[in-house]
Amino acid sequence: MRAFVIEKYAHPSKIPLTQDAPAPTPEKDQVLVDVYSAGMNFFDILQAQGKYQTQPPFPFVLGTELAGRIAHDSPLPPGCPFKHGDRVFGAAQGAYGEKVAARWQQLTALPENMTFDQGAGLQVTWPTSYEGLAGRAELKPGEWLLVTASAGGVGIAAVQLGKLLGAKVIAAASTQEKLDIAVKYGGADYAVDYSKKDWQKEVLKITGGRGVDVVYDPVGMIRDCLKCAAWKCRLLVIGFAGGEIEKLPLNLVLLKGVTVMGVYWGGTTVKDPKRIPVVWKDLLELLSHDKIKPVVYNEVFPLERLADGLGALEKRKTWGKVIVRIRDEQTGAKAKL
Ligand SMILES: NC(=O)c1ccc[n+]([C@@H]2O[C@H](COP(=O)([O-])OP(=O)(O)OC[C@H]3O[C@@H](n4cnc5c(N)ncnc54)[C@H](OP(=O)(O)O)[C@@H]3O)[C@@H](O)[C@H]2O)c1
Repeated sequence: MRAFVIEKYAHPSKIPLTQDAPAPTPEKDQVLVDVYSAGMNFFDILQAQGKYQTQPPFPFVLGTELAGRIAHDSPLPPGCPFKHGDRVFGAAQGAYGEKVAARWQQLTALPENMTFDQGAGLQVTWPTSYEGLAGRAELKPGEWLLVTASAGGVGIAAVQLGKLLGAKVIAAASTQEKLDIAVKYGGADYAVDYSKKDWQKEVLKITGGRGVDVVYDPVGMIRDCLKCAAWKCRLLVIGFAGGEIEKLPLNLVLLKGVTVMGVYWGGTTVKDPKRIPVVWKDLLELLSHDKIKPVVYNEVFPLERLADGLGALEKRKTWGKVIVRIRDEQTGAKAKL
């Protein structure tokens, strides 16, 4: 099968696509999935270079987020709710290949109204944003929400969910193109370019001097955001896309009476597994009724150009979820892009 096989650590741009990789052998609670589309993540670039917290033994296939169909030659282990041909999305190491072995517990039926491209980016982004805003910050109708990196994978999900929860949403991003995306596909009420000096003054002006009630921050800008935080603001620490783990002077936390909360969806699956079906039940209901809509970057990459997609992601050029299409959605034939 065609797959992006890592035999030694290197940047993805230096790794050729393997045309004749062996199909994976499923373990006892695994099924074989024909991968149609897979989601790209920054950590794929790190894993290819041996710099990520999870490193499978060589050789391994890169990629973890996927959507596809249960393969017709797959075993169906006891308890597995799927049958051959079912459309699924989920996570498994090796998503950048024509077939992957996945634990069936890590897969979910893909809602009928969703394409494989949309489904391939669901597994991590949407539950992170939903848990952050609804579960942790308990965002309320009428409150002001500020989202940083608002056109990115988790950011645009947070903008959509913020609107759905009834908040007034201020989208922040580094370019006009990304701000337009946050308004067009996220439904943001206001857009602020945070590459400009003193951008927080604009946020304060928009909120009538009050500041925002909730901050959703995947970049590592909590300290900057405190300048436009309202009294008792809840600040959600989502990630450090900016590349640095920021340090926060606690006197600022005290003076503004704010609460800083960490959101770690991967940790929730281990520490609080009962929360997982609750979050997914709500999200699947919203997704299947088109109340929220995954946003796919306008260039969908074929497997041969995976490294170009990862390169664009790395260079901060993309928005929404960047997708690699491995098979054609309707026919199951390989995508010709
Ligand atoms: N806590 C969790 O459970 C969880 C779950 C998923 C993801 N995350 C984390 O959330 C972060 C964002 O993930 P994502 O999937 O939304 O990523 P993404 O789609 O690649 O978006 C990241 C955005 O961050 C902004 N950014 C600011 N400084 C940057 C820099 N130096 N390099 C690259 N991007 C920069 C960019 O937007 P602008 O150009 O507009 O600034 C970029 O579009 C990552 O750190 C990820 O690890 C956390």
